[in-house]
Amino acid sequence: MPWRTKHVTPSILSADFAQLAAQVREVMDAGARVIHCDVMDGHFVPPITMGPMVVAALRDALPDDAFLDVHLMIDRPERQIEEFAKAGADGITFHAEATPHLDYTLSAIREADCRAGLAVCPGTPPAVFAEVDADLALCMTVNPGWGGQPFLPSQLDKVRRVRALVGEDTTIEVDGGVNAQTVVDCADAGATWFVAGSAVFGADDPVAAYREIAAAAGCS
Ligand code: DX5
Ligand code: ZN
Repeated sequence: MPWRTKHVTPSILSADFAQLAAQVREVMDAGARVIHCDVMDGHFVPPITMGPMVVAALRDALPDDAFLDVHLMIDRPERQIEEFAKAGADGITFHAEATPHLDYTLSAIREADCRAGLAVCPGTPPAVFAEVDADLALCMTVNPGWGGQPFLPSQLDKVRRVRALVGEDTTIEVDGGVNAQTVVDCADAGATWFVAGSAVFGADDPVAAYREIAAAAGCS
């Protein structure tokens, strides 16, 4: 997968879990290649969502060319990397706030043959991206834990600062409140992957919604 290509990455958090495979196939038929999967543990963030078993079931339902982008909102993520890699994650992103072992965890993800992502919450300064080498920098544009929250425009300046820190080859992903309007500013600020949950799966027509966001982001 060419990492500098822009992608809208539908988040299954807002999908109908009883129809997960069909819903994901629909957006993939519309052009989506990266599917975002939110793992929450009830500690790092209050909600509990899914674990490796659901990720594995989703992997089985996806075509081979789908990239499964697993976003861990869990404490001590370094203890779970192997499980999620075995479940079929292609990329694993964890939070800088969730472990003191950033470099170790990034290495563990790469050793498990996955792309290594590091995420920061809105209140976390971006300087951490200068200290370690991540393949993907995830800037939360809402406080993590729930879909459907309003986009935080204050985070656009952070995206710009992260882009200046990481150079052109690192994927910058934004997550939270992304829709056909806010995605334009995110792309201008230097983001290249755009997570969209409620704006896609909460829409009456997820395929049309996906296409509209992808067009607004300038995805080819
Ligand atoms: C929230 C999750 C997001 C969530 C985004 O903590 O990380 O991926 O699905 O949902 P929307 O796009 O509805 O803000
Ligand atoms: Zn997410």
